Amino acid sequence: MYICLCHGFTDKQVKRALAEGRRSMSEIYAALGGKPRCGKCVGEVRAMVACAPPAGSAGTGGIVPPALRSPQTE
Ligand code: FES
Repeated sequence: MYICLCHGFTDKQVKRALAEGRRSMSEIYAALGGKPRCGKCVGEVRAMVACAPPAGSAGTGGIVPPALRSPQTE
């Protein structure tokens, strides 16, 4: 699905940039076409960045295995 019509990038491209370790908005936009233009996509990209696991983690996609959960997360 297209996320940014101004630069023509998709959610898959954002996910790939995240998988490559990019975690800031400027890194994501630099990798996918430059600075935001109209800004309509910024909220969606920001949400994807916020949901991404920390760079360099095992990349579980935000899913915490039961053995690693603390009582506060239950
Ligand atoms: S839709 Fe992404 S900058 Fe316009």
